[in-house]
Amino acid sequence: MYSEQLLSTEGFSDAYSLTYHVFPPTMVLSIGEPYNVAPEIAMEKNLQNRSFQGYAVAPKDDYLESRVPVMVNNDIHISVAAPRKSMQSYFYKNSSADELLFIHEGSGILKTMYGRLSFSYGDHLVIPRGTTYTIEFDSEINRLLILESFSPIRFPRKYVNRFGQLLEHAPYYERDIRKPVDLETFDQLGDFEVLIKKEGLIYPYHYASHPFDVVGWDGFHYPWAFSIHDFEPITGRIHQPPPVHQTFEGHNFVLCAFVPRLYDYHPGSVPIPYNHANVDSDEVLYYVDGEFMSRKNVKRGQFTLHPIGIPHGPHPGTVERSLGAKETKELAVMIDTFKPLMITKQALEIEDVEYYKSWVE
Ligand SMILES: [Fe+2]
Repeated sequence: MYSEQLLSTEGFSDAYSLTYHVFPPTMVLSIGEPYNVAPEIAMEKNLQNRSFQGYAVAPKDDYLESRVPVMVNNDIHISVAAPRKSMQSYFYKNSSADELLFIHEGSGILKTMYGRLSFSYGDHLVIPRGTTYTIEFDSEINRLLILESFSPIRFPRKYVNRFGQLLEHAPYYERDIRKPVDLETFDQLGDFEVLIKKEGLIYPYHYASHPFDVVGWDGFHYPWAFSIHDFEPITGRIHQPPPVHQTFEGHNFVLCAFVPRLYDYHPGSVPIPYNHANVDSDEVLYYVDGEFMSRKNVKRGQFTLHPIGIPHGPHPGTVERSLGAKETKELAVMIDTFKPLMITKQALEIEDVEYYKSWVE
């Protein structure tokens, strides 16, 4: 007799998985004192274009301690992390948010009760809430962009049919989505610490059975990976609007990927985008690699925040520089939130304070 566990979402009315355990997943030995990891807000309200250097965040040995929140609201928390060590002494579970780990640098294996998911540069690892995991890194040099989404992270609705299948005009395909493989059953009793995050607190739970004691599972609630390098850019004769870059979405936000691609190919086209006012969304760009066409002096791991309320556009000289260019090698991730973002204390420590003046030569 195995112990069956149903992992259900949205009140048993949406995606779920069934897992079969050697031991019941309920054998709590003890619970330690919860501790606070909620972001400390330095600036609740903002009407200024800003920039932050994600790579200025210092590496730390421990995975959870290395996570530094930068911009947050009630829908999403955006963090960066430079963890040096693999997780060895504990397991981790986020019970409030789906997590998306964008692997900027480093490689390794995400381990869950569903199996192993190997990752490397450019991967988005989507870990639905309630998934206990550990990460094994191949080296000490790792840079992650981490999103915590308080609603399910999904494929854009415009790209799926009524059965949930990706449509032909989607910029990626089911075959690009990687599932956990090589299920290993840990038939072990002992004392296993699981750090459970819920509403800004971490609760140290101790269980009597190994969290990965699963002999088999099926369903739709499991971690998966998608590489930004598998995103097929949508291009055109004239400028394509930003939604063509969309990868995923959650409640009140979208995620996009700017990848190497051909520029607009009409002979009279201006390859660089227009000035634009995102009238009702905060726009966060995270620069991954390559020269970014519309910005000057951009560094890897840099964030820009262009908020609701004021326009932004190409930096001086970049329009002229773009004329006649055939392609771009830029690689970036964009997060557009439909509610304003608050700025954390740690973000102010890595801010380029003069950025808002960078459109004046
Ligand atoms: Fe923009």
